[in-house]
Amino acid sequence: MSKLQLNQTGSGSSQHLLLSTKSHFFNHVDRIRRTYISYKPRTHHNTNIALLRKSFPDGVITKRFNVVSNVIRQSSGLLSNLTLIGCLDGVTDLVRRTLLLELVSSQLDPETGLGKKRVKGYGHKVSKDGAEIKLESKFDVPESFGDIGAVLVENEYHKEMYLKDIVLTIIGSSNAHAPVTITCNSWISSKCDADDPHMRIFFTNKSYLPSETPRGLKKLREEELKNLRGDGKGERKSSDRIYDYDKYNDLGDPDSSDELARPVLGGTEHPYPRRCRTGRAPSEKDPLSEKRSLDVYIPRDEAFSEPKELQFSATTVEEVLHALVPSIPTALLDINLGFPHFTAIDNIFNQGVKLPKLKNQGRLRSLLPRLVGSLSQIKDDLLLFDTPEIFNRDRFSWLNDEEFSRQTLAGLNPYSIQLVTEWPLKSKLDPNVYGPCECSITKELLEREIKGIMTVDEALEQNKLFMLDYHDLLLPYVKKVRALEGTTLYGSRTIFFLTPDSTLRPIAIELTRPVLDYKPQWKKVFTPGCDATTCWLWKFAKVHVGAHDSVYHEVVVHWLRTHCCLEPYIIATNRQLSAMHPIYRLLHPHLRYTMEINVRARLSLINAGGIIEQCFSPGKYSMELSSAAYDQIWRFDMEALPADLIRRGMAVEDPTAPHGLKLTIQDYPFANDGLLLWDAIKSWISDYVNHYYSKASLIETDPELQAWWTDIRTKGHEDKKNEPWWPKLKNQDDLIQIVTTIVWVASCHHAAVNFGQYTYGGYFPNRPSIARTNMPSEDISSEDHKKFMEKPESVLMKCFPSQIQATLVMAVLRLLSTHSTDEEYLGGLIEPAWDENPHIKKAYERFNKKLTEVCGIMDARNADPKLLNRTGAGVVPYELLKPFSEPGMTGMGVPNSTSI
Ligand SMILES: [Fe+2]
Repeated sequence: MSKLQLNQTGSGSSQHLLLSTKSHFFNHVDRIRRTYISYKPRTHHNTNIALLRKSFPDGVITKRFNVVSNVIRQSSGLLSNLTLIGCLDGVTDLVRRTLLLELVSSQLDPETGLGKKRVKGYGHKVSKDGAEIKLESKFDVPESFGDIGAVLVENEYHKEMYLKDIVLTIIGSSNAHAPVTITCNSWISSKCDADDPHMRIFFTNKSYLPSETPRGLKKLREEELKNLRGDGKGERKSSDRIYDYDKYNDLGDPDSSDELARPVLGGTEHPYPRRCRTGRAPSEKDPLSEKRSLDVYIPRDEAFSEPKELQFSATTVEEVLHALVPSIPTALLDINLGFPHFTAIDNIFNQGVKLPKLKNQGRLRSLLPRLVGSLSQIKDDLLLFDTPEIFNRDRFSWLNDEEFSRQTLAGLNPYSIQLVTEWPLKSKLDPNVYGPCECSITKELLEREIKGIMTVDEALEQNKLFMLDYHDLLLPYVKKVRALEGTTLYGSRTIFFLTPDSTLRPIAIELTRPVLDYKPQWKKVFTPGCDATTCWLWKFAKVHVGAHDSVYHEVVVHWLRTHCCLEPYIIATNRQLSAMHPIYRLLHPHLRYTMEINVRARLSLINAGGIIEQCFSPGKYSMELSSAAYDQIWRFDMEALPADLIRRGMAVEDPTAPHGLKLTIQDYPFANDGLLLWDAIKSWISDYVNHYYSKASLIETDPELQAWWTDIRTKGHEDKKNEPWWPKLKNQDDLIQIVTTIVWVASCHHAAVNFGQYTYGGYFPNRPSIARTNMPSEDISSEDHKKFMEKPESVLMKCFPSQIQATLVMAVLRLLSTHSTDEEYLGGLIEPAWDENPHIKKAYERFNKKLTEVCGIMDARNADPKLLNRTGAGVVPYELLKPFSEPGMTGMGVPNSTSI
């Protein structure tokens, strides 16, 4: 598909024309096949082609190419109005001289020292094959032209077009079925639309370090990067392809309402990664914020493919907002209406949610299946949600302490559990503001809860105590959050004891409210208990911790550490690495669609008044909280899985152990499966990097690579640019570790915390997004405390998310947990540029084989009755890191990139 070897018979020399470009194309028909059986080595054509030579009067001998440019008809894009069936002649006229192509030699003219004269041609015919429109051209290329290194393209049609590829076939070839394909996969804007029109550059598939660039391509390589960097000025147009940095200054909407004003994230006060610059005008009320718009720029080729576009759009989420609640006016009035009892919660799955009578019911009906399952689930205006797997297997599991603990190791957020290494725990917050530093959970209490099996000192010595620590991060927000309506907050610490079976038991939860105005500090410890009141308070405490874990998971572990932190890598990769740079080609599949999904998130999820603010405990402070977490905990070097595990005390280095790590908890499903993938990725990337960089000096002297790493550190993560922990980039090991970390975050980290969202959060009692009311024991003179003693379930219902909050979160989690039909999985279909290089191709085949083996290992683990954190009665097996999946909501599958 991507390679053709042309043996120029007659000249006696073998000439390789390697014609392809960076591959963006996501032909969804192909992608549908990308399941675990999708990997298929591409066929190489080693074809001897007898060239048709033509001698011109001036004696120049040429070979003649037939060139077919394939343009994709996309319903959401342009050319969508070209109905070819039955009107071919008309279309032929329409697209005549549509696409100007110029073939570029990779050699310089030996006489002038300049680039060789390019060979030009226009498309002049048209035909149709499915969604593809073919434009044909004929090129006479001088024999002395040398290797074709690039193709320049100009769109003279009056609208943009999606150019899939350019296929060159030698006319008169003895084997006409051996075409050269140049993959483009790019939107080509119309010459008429461009302020400063320039031809698009598509390089062939052969990768070159900057120092190895063929002389005829050097200038183009630099020129293209300059185009992509832009000049940092003006407002970006939707057709632009410019990658630049900006702060998160568009989450608020101060012009609409003072209530919707939000601080800028990024800078000294609220450190944050950078996003793609749009250059929009500032808002009228806050010159530091961008004017709010639903039309947000991203570079043109970062846009979703059609299947993804259909699956997730701002419109879709907006429809959810308007549709899944009884009606908007009622919803606004009843936003605090909770569920009356557990039966009402169960009825979401049994009886469904009544749909409103909306004018746009037709559109709604077409959208809802993608949100909530198959079409058959909508009957008589009733919407039935899929039963989340956790509820499906054991409807009472959410109540169990064992399941509460198990999910810290094998659930949706396996990134927070950490080893306790000292006692008492101490806060790092200012005691003058937040009260005494020491944790109020005493040694005596812990020893009582572990039934005197050992002392706390012995438990520390033997690595038996673990915790979820949301004390220091949340406590500074308690006062602000409690000033909001319909929510509350505590700082929390949850302590677990490790049993000999490698399972955790929660033994104590401390909830803390700092001094609030005239109220003194309130700090209480809750334990599982043996009496009715204590048991119920324990349930309430777990609900609060569940809400803390939910928000931490969504805004820190999920949004910040994957989606948000990846955007600077994407910007830097496009600004500093040429499309022909091997590291660009290595990273590209892992950076697809992330910018687009991040824009969608800014429009509907993390914006002022968006779903996160409406439905999670910290409300309007949710994103500020993620900034605080970025400030306090984010380090590039700690995003690597082994480093992350060691940092949390969940593993220690051990050269004799598998993966070089000894886990503190042997049955830690996320870590066990994750390390298999980490090693497989690292091995593949090592093969790749060592192939292109045979010695360290090549890395130190690679100007594009060094500029890329500098961009990431000093521009994309500008607020952390002076941190001493940034890895150096001096040799192959440095590069392997950096790239492996980026690929891990984009693929495995994201998959582990994304595709189980509905499984674990769809039944919200298991992971409530918000705890709306204080602990019943916080104020024992309150009406709530009285009600609690009479009927605790009804008070719990008031604490749980409201009906609207629960339904919205369910719909969104369902959407985010779903693989699109064109999903691209880790180790799936090989990239054309990798396929072309035999060494890289073999390495990738090994990677693919390894991932297939890994699937088997994970299945075997899930069937092992000794692994109690992934097997057992009613237990959801740990499949979130199984690499391959079918489309839909499967609870498994690791896509290459963070794209939903
Ligand atoms: Fe995600």
